[in-house]
Amino acid sequence: MNALMIVAHPNLDESIANKNIAEIMSDKGVSVRNIMDLYPDYKVDIEAEQLALMEADTIIFQYPFYWYNMPAILKQWFDEVFSFNFAYGPEGDKLKGKNFLLSFTVGGPADSYSPIGYNHFRIEEFTKPMEQTAYLAQMTFLAPVYEHGMVYVPNVYNTKEAVEERAAKQADRLVKILDDLESTAPEHMINEFVKDWFAHFDKMADDGYFNHHLDKQAKLKFVEGEYIGHEGFSEWYKEIKKLIKPDNEHIIKSISINKHDDYYKVDLTVNLKADTYHDGFIDLNVKETWKVAITRDGRVKIHEYKVSTI
Ligand SMILES: Cc1cc2nc3c(=O)[nH]c(=O)nc-3n(C[C@H](O)[C@H](O)[C@H](O)COP(=O)(O)O)c2cc1C
Repeated sequence: MNALMIVAHPNLDESIANKNIAEIMSDKGVSVRNIMDLYPDYKVDIEAEQLALMEADTIIFQYPFYWYNMPAILKQWFDEVFSFNFAYGPEGDKLKGKNFLLSFTVGGPADSYSPIGYNHFRIEEFTKPMEQTAYLAQMTFLAPVYEHGMVYVPNVYNTKEAVEERAAKQADRLVKILDDLESTAPEHMINEFVKDWFAHFDKMADDGYFNHHLDKQAKLKFVEGEYIGHEGFSEWYKEIKKLIKPDNEHIIKSISINKHDDYYKVDLTVNLKADTYHDGFIDLNVKETWKVAITRDGRVKIHEYKVSTI
């Protein structure tokens, strides 16, 4: 998961909450852009920002809650960076499918953000404009992450330690969200599936497992010939089972998974070490190209499967 954190604070050196969160996330490998530091004159380098966004899968906006909103530098940043034909408009799909995650620190206590509290409204009511911004940009709006009681005024509000502790808690919550996104990312699911698929070939498992992951009309091109769908697979596999003994070994030498419009292309090189019934031990390398998609119930389905020897 490729995450980018846009940090917006007018003076991060004097910050406790946001500085702590940004430091923890940076230590966890998230790339952090401190936009006040980059643009002290509010002249945002639009191209540089858009490039950084395009490289990320998840964009975290980290800032202190100011007047029920974001600091001015972040508003300026949105006004310039989320531009026509980039974030919206006929060709404005550059952020499509990326995760949009607000992470902010709130000074006031939780009970003040309710109809009977002095802040009257729930926090999520204040973030509606950003939620719609994400929708217009075709991004996935994730539930905002925030902690209350983040303001430190010596001898008036909180202790420095308490604010630091809450900041660490907020960072933990962000890390957990990123971990969860990672484990449900299609690329991760496909990668795990490929390992499982070959582990089943190692044991020469029943057709059922393989056909469960093959589309009914899957185009199969093996070294032995071309086949279609479940029947085609079973026909090919029956012959293979007469040649290769179980408990063989498929070693994935390389794998690359690339997203296309409505499918993922998987390019593999695989080394097969196997004992055969007639030709002794074989050790061969093959190149495989698959076209796969993920079904609504989260299953990887193969639509095309091509194998050639190297
Ligand atoms: C200009 C300004 C406006 C603020 N507005 C709010 C607000 O609307 N609601 C709130 O709960 N806290 C508000 N606060 C408190 C900040 O949210 C709090 O100081 C900040 O989250 C602490 O983060 P930091 O340590 O990174 O500066 C405001 C603070 C400042 C300086």
